[in-house]
Amino acid sequence: MFKHLSAVPGDPLLALIIAHRNDPNPNKVDLGVGVYKDDNGNTPILNSVKKAEAILLQQEDSKSYLGINGAPEFAAVIQELLLGKDNTIIKDKRIFSAQTPGGTGALKVAADFIGSSLPNPKIWVSDPTWGNHLPIFRSAGLSIETYPYYDPETNGVRFDDMMKTLKADAKAGDTILLHACCHNPTGVDLSFEQWQEVTSFVAERGLLPLVDAAYQGFGDGLDEDMAGLRHMASIIPNMLICNSFSKNFGIYRERCGGLSVIAETSEEASNAYSIIGLAIRANYSMPPAHGAAVVYTIMNDPELKAEWVEEVSAMRNRINTLRNQLVEKLAASNTKKDFSFIRAQRGMFSYSGLTVDQVHTLRNDYSIYIADTGRMNVAGITDNNIDYLCDAIATVVG
Ligand code: LMR
Repeated sequence: MFKHLSAVPGDPLLALIIAHRNDPNPNKVDLGVGVYKDDNGNTPILNSVKKAEAILLQQEDSKSYLGINGAPEFAAVIQELLLGKDNTIIKDKRIFSAQTPGGTGALKVAADFIGSSLPNPKIWVSDPTWGNHLPIFRSAGLSIETYPYYDPETNGVRFDDMMKTLKADAKAGDTILLHACCHNPTGVDLSFEQWQEVTSFVAERGLLPLVDAAYQGFGDGLDEDMAGLRHMASIIPNMLICNSFSKNFGIYRERCGGLSVIAETSEEASNAYSIIGLAIRANYSMPPAHGAAVVYTIMNDPELKAEWVEEVSAMRNRINTLRNQLVEKLAASNTKKDFSFIRAQRGMFSYSGLTVDQVHTLRNDYSIYIADTGRMNVAGITDNNIDYLCDAIATVVG
């Protein structure tokens, strides 16, 4: 039955984790997959999470199914974090949110919803975008188009080209994928003014925004990072938002995220939500409980919430400090390449501008693991490895 099958290469990012794990070099550096690390190179469990888990251990009284959409307390937390507590969209019940297995689960369900509910489902994604976006959308049968985004010349956004392409080719009813903040893989975000311009265009053309919010809190702050999304939600009547709590609660392996649908009226949102429920049932039936229980236990306890907000700030500040140190040390290493653009990038990732050959030399000769695209996970840098890293980059780049 399976004789005709041959092995296919796995996801390159996940292959990088294995390659790093199997590398015996004691100086190896992992700047691959997007996981936060502390200065010892560990991915710690947040204190607020540990405390919430202790509470849950005492209080949890059943492991029965949660239901397709997950816990209602969790939906409230998602909405408050994404839109802000007093948002009228929440008060008017124009938003419904489902608990999903990570941001990936949310994206898959959103894609299935688009595929089953919109005529000629087509999605516009940034060039480049997160490597897993394309297989997810393809698997739901969406046709995919790209809009220009990253400019390797300026290390910024090709905003004029982006708008030109969308204005020329996006059709009413198409979906447009936007990264709420901390663009993955580039680390280059739209400015607030650019969000405003995109919003006006999306409104005028009648597009459906699908916003991927996987790194809230890692850019400029929990509220600051949602400024563009909140502006868009205040203007555009219909929207899908996929969010992840993997990074900002550090609960990667618990698979915890959410899919929210916003519509013009509460009834429309509720109708769309019922179709989302069918997609959930067909994909994984019901979501896992633990991660979401941790999140709402923290968010509904003022002391734990304050501690978590501090912990998110600490992760963000460490990454931003590392960005500055990286730029300074690379400049001091006399490499001919100017890396100062790394300072302005946001979130865990930096598109470093390293070529695929340079990335391979760093991997093969120095055991430094960076994605082939040149995307570095800045959070993988430590006091112990930064000099080694900068010397190696300077040698390879020249
Ligand atoms: C990443 O881009 O590294 C993360 O989102 C992890 C993943 O699943 O790819």
